[in-house]
Amino acid sequence: MTTRLATDRVVFENISKSYRVNNAGLKVVDDISLTVDPGKFVCLIGPNGSGKTTLLKILAGIEKQSAGKVTAPDNIAYLPQQGSLMPWLTVRENLRLPAKIKNQLDNKLEKNIDRNLKQFGLDKFAGFYPAELSGGMQQKVALIRTALYTPDLIILDEPFSALDAITRLQMQVWLVELWRKLKCTVICVTHDINESMFLADEIYVLSSRPGKIIRQMTVDARRPRDIDKLSTKRLLNAQKELRELLVNERI
Ligand SMILES: Nc1ncnc2c1ncn2[C@@H]1O[C@H](COP(=O)(O)OP(=O)(O)O)[C@@H](O)[C@H]1O
Ligand SMILES: [Mg+2]
Repeated sequence: MTTRLATDRVVFENISKSYRVNNAGLKVVDDISLTVDPGKFVCLIGPNGSGKTTLLKILAGIEKQSAGKVTAPDNIAYLPQQGSLMPWLTVRENLRLPAKIKNQLDNKLEKNIDRNLKQFGLDKFAGFYPAELSGGMQQKVALIRTALYTPDLIILDEPFSALDAITRLQMQVWLVELWRKLKCTVICVTHDINESMFLADEIYVLSSRPGKIIRQMTVDARRPRDIDKLSTKRLLNAQKELRELLVNERI
């Protein structure tokens, strides 16, 4: 069965996915089941090619699973790994685009755009085109756009991988603040174990291809979290365990 239903929860039931490559089936996702309650922050980590992006695309409705059932909210913001901005539109036009499509441009949105651009030091770049910005700045704009439209579910595919270390830390803090403000669900793929420990309520580790869940871990750290204080014995042990799992899967 390959139905999609709209609910508050995210549920994968026995999801498998094969692509056709050279006239043969290439299985990339193998029988994944998981449930994410509304308002939770979940990180997926796993080696390259373990089907993480494929899984997110299935959740966003861009790819169709070969088997299994997906349940997800209607109002989804999906941020692909790269290139989510329209190259022919300026930063401001990119931020306006979802509202423009729905004929919902108004003053409140413009003010919101101005406030967000200022907060991220991008106010001088409102009239710039994506190609005129660094990769990190482009990703910031894409994240601001995600935030402007109050989704029930935000799907992020390695959102900070193009950012320098300091910007990355700032964006992690901002993402957690945003998530708490919007009270939405976030499902985020990352390569970075520390990042997943800072962000997530729950971490799922995928095996190498075809991706299966090999570990589910609850991050036992109170919020608000301080990235410098995630070094209790318990959390360090958890990080070590994740590192060992990923090394064994030849990341
Ligand atoms: N559209 C496609 N057609 C054929 N193979 C694909 C397609 N998309 C991804 N793949 C393959 O599926 C595997 C998983 O890809 P992906 O989901 O991008 O993994 P990850 O995000 O974990 O690196 C890879 O081997 C990749 O080459
Ligand atoms: Mg990927």
